[in-house]
Amino acid sequence: MEEFVIGKLSVTDISEVISLGLQTEEFQTGTDSAQFTSKETLEGWINDDNGVTLAAKVADELVGYVLGYYLQGPNDGYLNFLIVKQEYRGLGVGSNLLEKAIDEFKNKSGGRCDHIFSLVKPDNEATLRLFEKYGFQIGETFNYVEKMI
Ligand SMILES: CC(C)(COP(=O)(O)OP(=O)(O)OC[C@H]1O[C@@H](n2cnc3c(N)ncnc32)[C@H](O)[C@@H]1OP(=O)(O)O)[C@@H](O)C(=O)NCCC(=O)NCCS
Repeated sequence: MEEFVIGKLSVTDISEVISLGLQTEEFQTGTDSAQFTSKETLEGWINDDNGVTLAAKVADELVGYVLGYYLQGPNDGYLNFLIVKQEYRGLGVGSNLLEKAIDEFKNKSGGRCDHIFSLVKPDNEATLRLFEKYGFQIGETFNYVEKMI
């Protein structure tokens, strides 16, 4: 494989981000609302100082991304989405995205952010093992609940 490079997601990546997100069964919530984030939301997210929005690219191809957000009040880093395209998995791309995301969270709010969390389906072994490898503790299983307001 050509070397992959991790950098900031760009607005020009958004359609590919959405397309990959919608295809990803692991992101599906089982509820009726939209199953991925909209173009408008992603545009705001990429330009938000509290956002962690990173792309992994091989040449010009987007092969993976991570989307997270620093919640200033609660002082929590939340990892919303981490994905690597099927044909690029098992090559260290996910690890690199996670490492860089952790580094970015550490720098949020002048170095105040000291906690990161995420939601992972209980049968998503690859992600659970990846998080464990980076020192995350695997806790209880909860149900996802939501409501449009
Ligand atoms: C989770 C995911 C991002 C991992 O990306 P990746 O580039 O394949 O990961 P890496 O090659 O960096 O692997 C790092 C570690 O993850 C774990 N891992 C990755 N794939 C695995 C698999 N199929 N089974 C078990 N563990 C696995 C291992 O601990 C691995 O470390 P090792 O190589 O030393 O054993 C990828 O599988 C993916 O996109 N899954 C679908 C989306 C998803 O579920 N995202 C998380 C929910 S937000």
